[in-house]
Amino acid sequence: MSDHVILDRIEELRRQFDAELAQAASLDTCAAVRDRWVGRERGIITGEMKRLRELPREDRPAFGQAANELRNYVERELNAALERFGARARELEIARGRVDVTRPGFPYALGVEHPIKRLQAEIEQVFISLGFRVFDLPEIEKEYYNFDALNMPRSHPARDSQDTFYFDETTLLRTHCSTVQIHAMKVMKPPVRAVSTGKVYRRDPADATHSPMFYQVDVLALDEGITMGDLKGTLEVFLKRIFHPDVRMRFRPGFFPFVEPGAEVDISCIFCFGKGCRICKQSGWIEILGAGMVHPKVLRMSGVDDERYTGFAWGMGIDRVALLKYEVDDIRLFFENDLRFLTQF
Ligand code: PHE
Repeated sequence: MSDHVILDRIEELRRQFDAELAQAASLDTCAAVRDRWVGRERGIITGEMKRLRELPREDRPAFGQAANELRNYVERELNAALERFGARARELEIARGRVDVTRPGFPYALGVEHPIKRLQAEIEQVFISLGFRVFDLPEIEKEYYNFDALNMPRSHPARDSQDTFYFDETTLLRTHCSTVQIHAMKVMKPPVRAVSTGKVYRRDPADATHSPMFYQVDVLALDEGITMGDLKGTLEVFLKRIFHPDVRMRFRPGFFPFVEPGAEVDISCIFCFGKGCRICKQSGWIEILGAGMVHPKVLRMSGVDDERYTGFAWGMGIDRVALLKYEVDDIRLFFENDLRFLTQF
């Protein structure tokens, strides 16, 4: 077969298609033309493509190219015609005042509130109801607020436990939300009741229980005569509201440079109610936060009279609470933004 013959054949098909499409006067007839020409099984173009294999080898390239061009042409023309008729059909419907109001609407995929964000708001709400002021604080922080003013000077070994992302000598991504203590004392005179939640950053490789970015909540209460009793009372109200009305807590001595005395606080396991299970490693207790009485040095550095005022502070990981509350066993799930996970909340 010569090129001439091949191209004649394709040209003839194109004329045939043009004629058929010109006859089509509605959306339905257009759709019928489409099925006849580009239907997957028995479409004319599909048939032509199959013929390719029967042709002598030397004729295949020219024929393949011409047939491809024809297919593109046919699809383009069909789409334009379908579009035209579709729009016209809608216009006619409207003109006749016969809009089908029973036709189903287009479904919209609605998002869900991220579980961490929801828990964050829930936690803030507890403190708002207790009369605390919410602080929205910077994630990019001065070393002074993150470390120095919290009694962690540059040489302090406790800095090592919070491996830090630095921008330059004195600017960093905050490693904890305890910065709220310093910010609150800067803008409020006692009595101070302050809470802040948000993202913190540490140079930790991600695994099931660690992430280089996670969320914390920190609080500060400062006034005359504040004691460890106030710390325990407030904490108990908070933990019962967030976890369960029957939850119990216990204090163990703990060291943080910005509190004295300092404590690590455990809650009774919310899965086995203290009997011992896999989650609490059979101990009945789950470590949940760090707390203590604000160190006099911290008060003094922020210009607060440490003879007259005392305060309590605590800090807690929000993601950790979310893991427990929603029974999720890998923190990374919260940050991968997989909708199959997120839409379960
Ligand atoms: N900032 C501490 C941490 O990130 C927690 C803490 C806050 C401890 C306040 C005591 C008082 O681990």
